[in-house]
Amino acid sequence: MTNIVETYNLTKIYNKTIRAVDDISIEIQEGEIFGLLGPNGAGKTTTIHMLATITRPTSGSARVGGYDVLREPRKVRAITGYSAQEAGVDEYSSGREYLTLFGHYYHLDNRTIRSRVDELLELLELTDAADRLVATYSGGMRKRLEIGTALMHRPQLLVVDEPTLGLDIQTRVRIWDYIRALNKDGMSILLTTHYLEETDKLCDRVAIVDHGRVVALGTPDELKGEIHGDVVSLTLPVEEPDQHAQTIEKVRQLLSAQPFVKDVQPTAEALNIYVDQGGVAVPQILRLLEASGLTVGEIALARPSLDDVFLKYTGRKIREEKGKAVGARAAWIRRPR
Ligand SMILES: Nc1ncnc2c1ncn2[C@@H]1O[C@H](COP(=O)(O)OP(=O)(O)OP(=O)(O)O)[C@@H](O)[C@H]1O
Ligand SMILES: [Mg+2]
Repeated sequence: MTNIVETYNLTKIYNKTIRAVDDISIEIQEGEIFGLLGPNGAGKTTTIHMLATITRPTSGSARVGGYDVLREPRKVRAITGYSAQEAGVDEYSSGREYLTLFGHYYHLDNRTIRSRVDELLELLELTDAADRLVATYSGGMRKRLEIGTALMHRPQLLVVDEPTLGLDIQTRVRIWDYIRALNKDGMSILLTTHYLEETDKLCDRVAIVDHGRVVALGTPDELKGEIHGDVVSLTLPVEEPDQHAQTIEKVRQLLSAQPFVKDVQPTAEALNIYVDQGGVAVPQILRLLEASGLTVGEIALARPSLDDVFLKYTGRKIREEKGKAVGARAAWIRRPR
């Protein structure tokens, strides 16, 4: 099996202090949909910027399609399509004009450009809006157009930063379908996301990143399989806000000491209790709390999710919040070929 991406101790330090990417070594196989999953500031964008030759590594190295990102950036760019986190599309051109511009940027001939533009507009369901100004496009349409620009030269590898950030669930599902279709045609895909569902539904393998490091790597099922048993989620009613943190700590200590409890992780709103058999544990937990004079808000039983995997490795819940803008598209266009 050939690797489309290999990184070796890849590291990026900003301003001599911020370790945005800290010693990442991963291999992505040809034909995979590979996800980098992590919260805001984890280093996802910086990692793919180094692979797309937008940012230089501080140390370590990486190869894309066998080409070194530092020594052979043009070759890397020829086989890589990069789609930025924030769609930086030009408001005052039409979708068709914008894709055409990228065709010229990739030095394609006019006839190829015309047919690829038509093909991509069709694939991304933008044909009807093709000749309207981008200024009139919705967020989902802009994101699709942005992905289209990365596909003009039929890359072997599509690198897409947050393919569905801030989009509604219907649009999200459609974008997953396009990505699957491209992958089925043989394209390798590297995407970043902080949506757990996105990695679960779409990715063959996922690396969970936190503070610039890979903390777990595997198929979504492998990662979930690492958490054996069930998860009991418990909330406590806020009776006296001043005392709430203390109450939670008291419950945590009480439950952690029980032989049937494997782990207790406090989250923002609840306590996640990891047990072998949820059905047996729930009544025991309720009895214990009652005996200690503690009131239960809600108690629920769930199978482990990627969120639990994330919690296990980082001690935090992944938050789904909107990312920030980056001027990566401008950097990509300006760079000489
Ligand atoms: N150009 C820069 N100069 C200085 N620090 C930077 C720069 N770009 C990113 N950083 C810092 O590097 C860290 C990683 O940022 P990065 O954008 O790679 O994270 P991310 O995982 O993509 O986050 P998000 O989910 O918000 O997009 C953050 O602490 C960020 O503030
Ligand atoms: Mg990012």
